[in-house]
Amino acid sequence: MKLAVESLAQGGDGLARHPDSGEVIFVPGGLPGDEFEVTLAKRRKVLRARVVRRLKDSPHRQTAVCDSRPKCGGCSWQELVVEQAMAWKGRLLVGSLSRFARQNPKDLEMLLEPIPVKHRGRHRVMMRVDPSGRLAYHQAASHDLVVPTACPALHPRLESVARGLEQIAPLLQGQIVEVAMGLDGSGESRAVRLHPRPRRRGEATPMTRQGLKSLAQTIVNRGIAEGAWAESEDGQLVVSGNVELGGHLAGDPRFTVRAGLFYQADPAVNASMGTELLRMVNPRKGLRVLDMHAGAGNFALALALARCRVQASEVDAEAFQDLSRNAKRLGQGARLEPLRMTAAQALSRASQRRPPAVVVFDGPRGGDREGAQAIARFQPPKVVAFGCDRVTFARDLAEMGLGTRYALHRVGYWDAFPWTHHLEAFALLELKGA
Ligand SMILES: C[S@@+](CC[C@H](N)C(=O)[O-])C[C@H]1O[C@@H](n2cnc3c(N)ncnc32)[C@H](O)[C@@H]1O
Repeated sequence: MKLAVESLAQGGDGLARHPDSGEVIFVPGGLPGDEFEVTLAKRRKVLRARVVRRLKDSPHRQTAVCDSRPKCGGCSWQELVVEQAMAWKGRLLVGSLSRFARQNPKDLEMLLEPIPVKHRGRHRVMMRVDPSGRLAYHQAASHDLVVPTACPALHPRLESVARGLEQIAPLLQGQIVEVAMGLDGSGESRAVRLHPRPRRRGEATPMTRQGLKSLAQTIVNRGIAEGAWAESEDGQLVVSGNVELGGHLAGDPRFTVRAGLFYQADPAVNASMGTELLRMVNPRKGLRVLDMHAGAGNFALALALARCRVQASEVDAEAFQDLSRNAKRLGQGARLEPLRMTAAQALSRASQRRPPAVVVFDGPRGGDREGAQAIARFQPPKVVAFGCDRVTFARDLAEMGLGTRYALHRVGYWDAFPWTHHLEAFALLELKGA
């Protein structure tokens, strides 16, 4: 059958309507204005199109920059011209805010110009050796393999890690390794984290500690990265070289995060996030701030350096180790208390003693409903929220009481992930009548 794509869905697919029934149809890779010949498949009540051929191009379609499209699952908006991509991100964010939080902001701020290609300083891929002995990535939503060409989104120094790993691919024969690569803020030092465990029962045997050690050493000895680390089956750390990456947290090289843990993937976006954070928090000496999802301390450190009294909660054991180490590196006078507990627990605890004047909420991609409900319960005067998923971001804002207890003072986004439907959103909420 023939279909015309009308718009884009939250997940990045094209959206069309069935010509007879009017039912919504998801069209992977479809852009508004495209026309396709398709077959239809229904799964869990959702209609999806399988494209037979494209009959007409969207006026906003451009040629993909990457040779691995469309096989590689990344960068699914690569064929959409950048101005349209940025506009659609905003439109979809407003759609989520309207649907889940009953907000229709007129002044949606778009911060930063399009960021350049070859920018990503953090990358996580599943790799295993394909039958011909080459290092291959898993295809999108599949266990099939695709041997990648150069990745145009990745910083050239991380691309060199991928190429170097190809050279030692035979060492991985029969294994699946998830490799998280990271680059420090100066763009020089590279480190990798290896996750060797099999993803599916019986698919591969886990790498022994000895195997991991020799893989990590080979990576460093051959200059593929300056550091490599992994946790072995018995919980022991295997470390070779320098695995601490500086320059991503609070824009200060003293603070480091280990490769493979969370940090904002693009330094320019992170710098802009830091500027906006300080503008929204409006720090002053002794201001009590709770950073509810601190990671290794990106926001908490910036606020402590701006003389706030900061508490920072984090649930992940490794991120908490890095957060605690960074807190110790703060100079005299800066106050940062790391708390190994959930955001909701931290807010409840703080509110019973000395309530924070500001909370910073930057939950995981899946959102933090419990943390948002704690905000609704304890009602801190100001909430500065960030989120990398439009839907969970809007849902969490609604849980906090946006529109009822809280008013929206600023809202916007960064196009932090070019060529994809992803963005980084922010909002400033203030308690009504406070
Ligand atoms: C998006 S990252 C934000 C990190 C930090 N704001 C930054 O910019 O680097 C979210 C962090 O929240 C942590 N996290 C997830 N659920 C949490 C919870 N319920 N309470 C506290 N931290 C949580 C994750 O481990 C992760 O480090």
